[in-house]
Amino acid sequence: MNLPLTLVSPVEPRVTLRAAGAGDLEQLRAWKNANKKGFFFRGEITPQMQKAWFASYLLRPEDFMFVVEHEGRKVGCMGFRLQKDGPADVYNIIAAPGDAGKGLMKAAMALMCAHIASRHTKDIGCLVVKGNPAVAFYEHCGFKIIADGGDHHVLKLMANKKT
Ligand SMILES: CC(C)(COP(=O)(O)OP(=O)(O)OC[C@H]1O[C@@H](n2cnc3c(N)ncnc32)[C@H](O)[C@@H]1OP(=O)(O)O)[C@@H](O)C(=O)NCCC(=O)NCCS
Repeated sequence: MNLPLTLVSPVEPRVTLRAAGAGDLEQLRAWKNANKKGFFFRGEITPQMQKAWFASYLLRPEDFMFVVEHEGRKVGCMGFRLQKDGPADVYNIIAAPGDAGKGLMKAAMALMCAHIASRHTKDIGCLVVKGNPAVAFYEHCGFKIIADGGDHHVLKLMANKKT
């Protein structure tokens, strides 16, 4: 996705989702490398790999990555991808160290899912590696486990009250 896009929460906590840019790459890389065990790819992402990812990301209009901001600070990241057959998958959901547990990521997820539902599709899901305690976070955000994917859970957003 190479268009500027900013989503602003209308309610407290007033998080903002800002389309990630080249200036965010090192921060995104650090967050991802610090949380390897929660994701499918568990290798170390090098600066070169991160640049290559960003160059290909810019060519994918169905792929959206945001930096979550609160009171002018970067507090995390999250993204979504539109699949060819219609549904959207949310992914790369990471809270910055020191900003986890404040309800900011749940607010950001509600904002992102409301945007997906109003602009793209109400069919929103995600895949969570088994053993990742983040599955409870998704459940607090309104997702439910609907299938067993072997090494991962398949979740769907059950109710999008913003639409
Ligand atoms: C998942 C993650 C983004 C959640 O961020 P967070 O800042 O803790 O989320 P919030 O403070 O917005 O929490 C929202 C709700 O989820 C709950 N929650 C979050 N993490 C939880 C956990 N591990 N276990 C139980 N509940 C959890 C919170 O208690 C809160 O509940 P509430 O709705 O009753 O208030 C963060 O733990 C993280 O970065 N994890 C590492 C990266 C990762 O694994 N990402 C997911 C990949 S699939």
